Order: sequence, then structure tokens, then C-alpha cells
Amino acid sequence: MKRRLMGVLGLLLIAAMVLAACGGGQATEAPAAPATEAATEAPTEAATEAETEAATEAATEAATEAAAAGEQVTLTFVGAGPGAEANFTKQQIEQFMQENPDIKVNFIEGHVSATDRYGLYLQTFQAQSADIDAMQIDVIWPGDLAEHLVDLNEYGAADVTGDHFPAIVTNNTVDGRLVGLPWFTDGGLLYYRTDLLEKYGYDAPPATWAELTAMAQAIQDGERAEGNQDFWGFVWQGKAYEGLTCDALEWIYSSGGGTIVSPDKIITIDNESAAAALDLAASWVGTISPPGVTGFQEEEARAVWQSGNAAFMRNWPYSYSLGQGDDSPIKGLFDVTSLPGAEAGQSAATLGGWQIGVSKYSKNPEAAAKLALWLASAEQQKARALNISLLPTIPALYDDAEIAEVVPFMPNLLNVFTNAVARPSTATAPNYNEVSTIFFSNVSEVLTGNTSGEDAVINISLDLEDLLGFETGAP
Ligand code: GLC
Repeated sequence: MKRRLMGVLGLLLIAAMVLAACGGGQATEAPAAPATEAATEAPTEAATEAETEAATEAATEAATEAAAAGEQVTLTFVGAGPGAEANFTKQQIEQFMQENPDIKVNFIEGHVSATDRYGLYLQTFQAQSADIDAMQIDVIWPGDLAEHLVDLNEYGAADVTGDHFPAIVTNNTVDGRLVGLPWFTDGGLLYYRTDLLEKYGYDAPPATWAELTAMAQAIQDGERAEGNQDFWGFVWQGKAYEGLTCDALEWIYSSGGGTIVSPDKIITIDNESAAAALDLAASWVGTISPPGVTGFQEEEARAVWQSGNAAFMRNWPYSYSLGQGDDSPIKGLFDVTSLPGAEAGQSAATLGGWQIGVSKYSKNPEAAAKLALWLASAEQQKARALNISLLPTIPALYDDAEIAEVVPFMPNLLNVFTNAVARPSTATAPNYNEVSTIFFSNVSEVLTGNTSGEDAVINISLDLEDLLGFETGAP
């Protein structure tokens, strides 16, 4: 009884922390976009509502029996990002519980912002709290969080790591310990309106940032002249948070300005190409991009785009299936491709993606690892690819005929995803989160017109020297 009470108290504590991390209300940040409906209406959706209900009932019954026999363990899993991800993950977890009646999983929806989620995890780890057993870990965090996570190779992951992209397994392996099981990968993409490109006489999406700027302006002018004053050329992520680090790394790297800090630990950000890339992005604010873009995360950009009010959007693959949902005004009217570069062919996509980690402080690491292995299995990754367009971390799935049919951009853009540019998290661990904060805060100052690209890159470089003690050099 006492244990149970402690458990309930623990959950309440997590709930309070999640709420605090969300600033009291995630709902206010999510746009009124049709994420939920799209998720349930997706074409290949396996479970109908009735099936889900039946499954839930069966799971509850089995769980009650297991609990009565005193065999059930309860796990808390924190996960999910923007769009339809949370709902779909909940459905998958229902299925897991049905198949594993001895494990009950409390699913807690983390904040959509990676930066805020990191804060929650850090707080929990620093308290060495057993309140969270397993969690979704960003591709940039293995180095920063390794000391708090178990080695999943000791819990059965060693048998499956060979099925995943080797680069992600390497990224997630810290001092020989696998601290995150690859769950889905991510890469920045350019979404573009095929109907509007045709209407304005363009036969291909832009290959350079200059082309994008000109095309976005021309389409915006045309649509406004026809009466749509809410129309914008280009939407992206401009708020001061991890997402801005991703966007800005794309502008800079695709302009020959390097990766902020190089893999061999040289601070390279103070260069003319990087400064020019930031100045160009600042010139978009209020011209081809809404002034409010400096407060946009992924979902705010998608809200403008999916309502049909933007010609171009920079976003992750998750926006694809939502945009193609039956209730989407732009269904069938857009495609995705690689982002532009300063020169044609210099394109860069920031490498994103999420892993599942198990807390070192968990009382049930075996059960938590079992959940991780199940969620990251080929079957479940395929379900996520088909229903919520999240990229598998298992190369074999890019040859899957059903995936090629439902989400053709996945096999088509495989080279973009496998060549994606990594943020400097390995070189700067365990300080990456601070590195990124210094970077996006300064970039934000450029976007809001408070400083120039040149001053920003000097500032970032000086702050990074103080923090990391690395040498500076050319990219
Ligand atoms: C996506 C990426 C993740 C990145 C985040 C930034 O979720 O997968 O790696 O940190 O966006 O907003």
C-alpha cells in the first residue's frame, strides 16, 4: 500500500514537472491544425476505433489479472513531439501492454520543444529520481546525458543494433555503452507548393537560397494581389530554442560556413559565410516570412503552411503525412525536397532524430528496455513511417514497397537523410546544450534586428572559447 502511495505521489510529481516545463499549457502552443484527425484518418491506419477499444479492454483485463497475481510492473515513459506523434505513440503503447500484460506503461507527453524537454530530464536525473523509467532522447543528447542512462546492450539491444544505421548507433554509443536505442531519424526538408510553382511559371523548386528568396517573394506578391493578405513566401523555425539551432546550421553549413564547432574540436563559427547566412535569414523576417516567425517552432510554421498560406516551409518529415491528410487543404498540392544552398548542390539538412533511453535510476530497467526494443522494432518503425511519416532508423525499411508507396519521399530522399549534417554534440559533450543555447540566443538577436551577423558570430565564438576552452579556426 505504502509503495503504491509512493508511486502515485511520484507520478503527481512528474505531472507537475511536465506542466511546469510546458509553462502551464501546451495546448496554447499547438496550432488548431488537424493533427489528431489526420493521425486517426491516415490511410494505412491499422487499428480502427473498435479494434482499439477491444484491445484496450483485453489489455485491461489481462493487466488486472497480472496485477492480482502481483506480477505487474508499472513504467513511466516520457515521449512524443509535435503533430500526431503523441497520439500514435499512445496507440502503440496500448498494443504493447496488450502483448505484455505484466507491464503497465504510463505515457507522459513531453513538451514539444526539445529545449524544454531537456530541462525536464536534467531535473529528474539530477534528483536521481526513479519517476521516469524510459524517455525519448534527442540525437544530440547521448553525450550530455550518458551518465544517467543504462547500457542497453546489457538488456538485449546488442542483438539488434546491427539492423540500424551504423552512424546513429555510433552517435548513441558513449564510452562503449549504448545509451539510446535508435527510434526514428530526422532531417530538415524544403516543403513546396507544386500548384503555386506551376501557376507562377517555375519548373523546379529553388536550388539556392537566393532563388528561394526571389520565388517566395514573387509568389507572395501574386497571391496577395489576388486578395490573400495572409499569404507568406517562406515559413520556418525562428524562435530561440533548439529548432533554431537546426535551421541556422542549415543556412550556415550550406553556405560553406561550417558546423559551429568542428568534429575535431575547433570553434569555426566566426567566419564571413556564416555571418552572411545569418544576415540573409534576418532579411526574410517581415518580408517573405511573417514578423512572428521569430517566435515560431515547428508547429507554428506548419499551421501557416497547412492552412495553405505559405509557398515554402522548412520542417521535418512529420509534417508530410499531416499535410496529405484527408482534411488538409493542401492535400496533393505539395512535395518535399532537399533544402537550398548558397550554391546549387550545396544543400544541407540538419540531422535530427530520437532514441529511447532507460534511466539508470529506474527500478525496472529490464521492463523499460523491453518497451524500448518493442517500440524501436522494424514492425513498429514501419507503422510510424506509414502513419505519421517518421523516418525509420533501419535501412532495410527504405526498400519496403508499402513505405515507398505511402511515403515515397523516404526512399527518394534517402541520400539527404544519410548525408545530413550533425550538430556538434559529440565534440562538445557534455556541454552541447549550453553550446546550442549560446548559438541560438545570438542567432535570435540577428533575426530580431538587434545585432548583425558579423557581431553575432564574433560573440558566439568568444562565448564558446570561454565555455569549451577549444582553439578557433577556419571551417
Ligand atoms: C526535431 C529533431 C530533433 C531536433 C528538434 C528541434 O524533433 O528530430 O533532433 O532537436 O526537432 O526542434
